[in-house]
Amino acid sequence: MARVVLKDVVKTYGSVYAVNRVSLTVEDGEFVALVGPSGCGKTTTLNLVAGLIPMTSGEVFIGDRDVTDLDPKDRDIAMVFQNYALYPNKSVFNNLAFPLQMRKLAKDEIDKKVRAAAKTLDITHLLERRPRELSGGQQQRVALGRALVRDPRAFLMDEPLSNLDAKLRVQMRTEIKRFHQDLKATIIYVTHDQLEAVTMADKMAVMNGGFLQQYDTPANVFAHPVNMFVASFIGSPAMSLIPVDATTRGDAVVLTSPEGWELPLSAQNTAKARKSSTSKIVLGARHSTVRLHHAPAAGAIPAKVYTVEPTGDITFVQVFIDGAVVNVSVPPNVVIRPDETVYVEFDQDRIHLFDAETTNALAAD
Ligand SMILES: Nc1ncnc2c1ncn2[C@@H]1O[C@H](COP(=O)(O)OP(=O)(O)O)[C@@H](O)[C@H]1O
Ligand SMILES: [Mg+2]
Repeated sequence: MARVVLKDVVKTYGSVYAVNRVSLTVEDGEFVALVGPSGCGKTTTLNLVAGLIPMTSGEVFIGDRDVTDLDPKDRDIAMVFQNYALYPNKSVFNNLAFPLQMRKLAKDEIDKKVRAAAKTLDITHLLERRPRELSGGQQQRVALGRALVRDPRAFLMDEPLSNLDAKLRVQMRTEIKRFHQDLKATIIYVTHDQLEAVTMADKMAVMNGGFLQQYDTPANVFAHPVNMFVASFIGSPAMSLIPVDATTRGDAVVLTSPEGWELPLSAQNTAKARKSSTSKIVLGARHSTVRLHHAPAAGAIPAKVYTVEPTGDITFVQVFIDGAVVNVSVPPNVVIRPDETVYVEFDQDRIHLFDAETTNALAAD
């Protein structure tokens, strides 16, 4: 396997920047998810790595080789697509063998490689079947097997699970993760599903509007989103974002709202708030870091309950603060009713503050 490097990669269609100066290093053996909403440039980025479309500017390296001007077939990469693209009239064996036959490998060598890949993926018992005689999950494994026999330097996968039903997706998610661990493969995996990215990837590259927003481990992206887009895109239910005013009072900064409540910030959050370019700040909080009180409590802000959604393990409550929806999770035995007034307490060690103008996260140092 090999390391994959993108340097200032740009792809334009007319005046549209599908990919805008993306630079990214995927280390040898790393699983990187390209994640973001539909149209943000994930597929285009992957296709540029594969060489399937011409690049407007920038460079791509696979291992030590500059592959920017190489044909896809000379880049030693394997792609796994959403629709598997299996040959319906060929047996599983021949589906796996086909890329090797194209390379004119000797028959016994093809046989050896196909059987090794089938063993890795636990599909040996399916080798004589046709694709239509396989379940969605089995077809997925054959598609992986066909990529595997080519002994590529990296695997590129574009939403490979999106055709599967919800249950199978979760199962195949685990399978692909296992595949990565067993092979120590370099994988670039495109998905619009933030949960897939968070659960599977060593690192995630969060994209929006053709730009790379943040590139880090899922844990770091979750704990320290660099801006409001990343903060609201990663995590479910989404991080709540409440626009407030920051007012200096003595040594401290106090968040104030048109509704009349005030929230004095801790010393650390005061330092962050002072970094803002304006007095307009956005307070961010994840559902799991917010506490609800039935009665007024110190530091708690009044809010009106909008919806209550029990899921069994956990109940999600949506409340309104200053017109902003705030997601809160509570244990299933907590009784809360729509339209009730509750008091919301934020954990100051775990809130996020953003500059409302630039949308960037405010950091203390
Ligand atoms: N062949 C094309 N011609 C014109 N615009 C394109 C083409 N392919 C992609 N785009 C545009 O580039 C942007 C990124 O597309 P894409 O990479 O497919 O997004 P994603 O995979 O993240 O959904 C979109 O705005 C899309 O409309
Ligand atoms: Mg796409």
